[in-house]
Amino acid sequence: MLEKIKEIRAAMEKELRDAVSSEQLRELKVKYLGKKGSISEISKSMGKLQPEERPKAGQMVNELRQALEQNLARRQQELADKMLQAQLAKEKVDITLPGRPVKLGSKHPLTQVMDDFKEIFLGMGYAIAEGPQVELDYYNFERMNLPADHPARDMQDSFYIDAKRLLRTHTSPVQARAMDRLCPNPVKVISPGTVYRRDDDATHSPMFHQVEGLVVDEGISLADLKGTLLNFVRQMFGEEREIRLRPSFFPFTEPSVEVDISCMLCGGSGCRTCKDTGWIEILGAGMVHPNVLKMSGYDPERFTGFAFGMGVERIAMLKYGIDDMRVLFENDVRFLQQF
Ligand code: PHE
Repeated sequence: MLEKIKEIRAAMEKELRDAVSSEQLRELKVKYLGKKGSISEISKSMGKLQPEERPKAGQMVNELRQALEQNLARRQQELADKMLQAQLAKEKVDITLPGRPVKLGSKHPLTQVMDDFKEIFLGMGYAIAEGPQVELDYYNFERMNLPADHPARDMQDSFYIDAKRLLRTHTSPVQARAMDRLCPNPVKVISPGTVYRRDDDATHSPMFHQVEGLVVDEGISLADLKGTLLNFVRQMFGEEREIRLRPSFFPFTEPSVEVDISCMLCGGSGCRTCKDTGWIEILGAGMVHPNVLKMSGYDPERFTGFAFGMGVERIAMLKYGIDDMRVLFENDVRFLQQF
């Protein structure tokens, strides 16, 4: 019996030492301490012993059980520690490493110029009016006094969606929408927005942006238009800028003008950018055509107005010296980082 106990103890200690997983430890526990385990077996066989041998044997079995329980617990702890160490070593975080730099974004040059526009005109008391990019032919052309056979209505130039709707080719239809909404009150709005034309080269894109301006009130004259634009140009391009108005034609304004600014690169003496003229064209404008006023319900005998429209990309290109419009839409970070 005593021999048997020693044997079991030796075998058990060896197995415990060899165990490398908590799964194995659990199996050992069953094998030795379980109902049908070695220790139970021994305890059962105690009955066969002589009465005087029993206390000693009982004590030894108890010691064996205790030893096994202690060893199991210790081994379990050792294994848990080892696993934790292994995990810590594997998942080590070096807190002395410098952090990854977070790149700061900046506003796209077009957004910056749009913001400039809004700030300048809000400063002059304008409100912002908006209209849909999918526009009715009616607003885009008819209300802008463009007759049915006008070349601008050609499918070649416009993206039609169906017979009645198209992607607006300019922000001018917002003029009509704003006047419809505000008549018979005065109007003083700018309409920044996206417009679409069938154009695609270094200085034209099928999608681009315009800012429209419209003022309608009693006694508005071409002098008001000129003063407003001069104020705008000096805030946008610098105090030294001059403007000049050249006669032009738009169906929705009469008279119509094209507006040039003195070249910001050469100051007017002539260079490549201004093609040696000293002037650069930046926008179209004019006095709102009486037909356009009438269609919104204004009496053109009492109300007059001026309107202007300009390309935001063009203004941005001039302001930042960009010679290819396409870089504004490619979103190359190396380009955008410069702003
Ligand atoms: N809508 C014109 C264009 O897109 C610009 C313009 C607006 C001209 C308002 C005169 C008055 O070219």
